[in-house]
Amino acid sequence: MDTIVSLSPQMLRQRQGHQSTASSSSSAWAITTARIGRHLSTASSCSSPRLLIKQRATAASAPAQKEKEVVFVAGATGRVGSRAVRELMKLGFRVRAAVRNAQRATSLVQKEKEQQLLELVECDLEKEPQEGIVSAIGNASLVVCSIGASEKEILDVTGPYRIDYMATSKLVQAATAAKQVEHFILVTSLGTNKIGFPAFLLNLFWGVLFWKRRAEEALIASGIPYTIIRPGGMERPTDAYKETHNLVLAPEDTYVGGQVSNLQVAELIGCMATNRSAAYCKTVEAVAEITAPLLPMEQLLSAIPSKREQRPADR
Ligand SMILES: NC(=O)c1ccc[n+]([C@@H]2O[C@H](COP(=O)([O-])OP(=O)(O)OC[C@H]3O[C@@H](n4cnc5c(N)ncnc54)[C@H](OP(=O)(O)O)[C@@H]3O)[C@@H](O)[C@H]2O)c1
Repeated sequence: MDTIVSLSPQMLRQRQGHQSTASSSSSAWAITTARIGRHLSTASSCSSPRLLIKQRATAASAPAQKEKEVVFVAGATGRVGSRAVRELMKLGFRVRAAVRNAQRATSLVQKEKEQQLLELVECDLEKEPQEGIVSAIGNASLVVCSIGASEKEILDVTGPYRIDYMATSKLVQAATAAKQVEHFILVTSLGTNKIGFPAFLLNLFWGVLFWKRRAEEALIASGIPYTIIRPGGMERPTDAYKETHNLVLAPEDTYVGGQVSNLQVAELIGCMATNRSAAYCKTVEAVAEITAPLLPMEQLLSAIPSKREQRPADR
């Protein structure tokens, strides 16, 4: 039977300290359900983020795992974010998926082996103080942010300012404070730095592109190696879109329109996670076209110019 267990921030810190010194992650994962169960009541009375680990009751006896790189994904319940979580796990990353409501994250684990790669962290980026977000990021060396104000709350004038700018900037600040974060991938939107049509139309959603641009600027100014993805429209394309439309990447401020699927953007995030050097300090616009040639994503990514000189070696 599956259990969702929850750790208090104090346990979270102990666990992170333990992980950083342990030669293998197996001992960290081997916290028994019974031990964690005793701490549940402490955790539930605490306002800081709770680490929720979905694991099988038998996880204590699971075979030892090789230490894998951890990726923190904000917006993990979203259309792009949930697909990115699955892509990253497919690539073998461990994922700390930040969610506001764990119930919405149940579909993230689709295969049994993924249960050991996924940790759910409850973290509302608007409400959480910076130290709480730093705790939530934990030992992640890569941060992916695909949060956004919901179009369902279209009447909320402050949505894009609060979520697309303020909450994203808070995550950037926390990633900077977390020290071990080596790279930050941010999903914004095509037209983010444009004026006129059709950016003007999108900006009718309470200046959403204006606020996304402010978030991009905050990330670039942070000094963390970054990649900004500006996707085209993702509302209509289904996951099957890539079978008929090939991905096209372009430098910033190239496109005024175009479409791409959530899955293609998620796959691009996976490609960037494994090719940090090719993704280093770039702003990439992503659309998909019927007439475009089918090229490896790494090749498309490498063709985009970087904004900074020094690149790290690929992992
Ligand atoms: N849809 C398009 O056509 C399109 C086109 C270009 C760019 N984009 C941009 O691409 C990004 C991803 O889009 P999407 O369609 O995947 O978005 P989505 O499905 O609406 O998901 C948004 C995510 O943000 C999370 N979120 C919102 N407020 C939060 C907060 N305060 N703290 C933590 N998480 C919060 C949501 O969590 P909950 O589940 O808890 O609400 C959800 O996981 C967004 O920035 C969007 O604006 C979208």
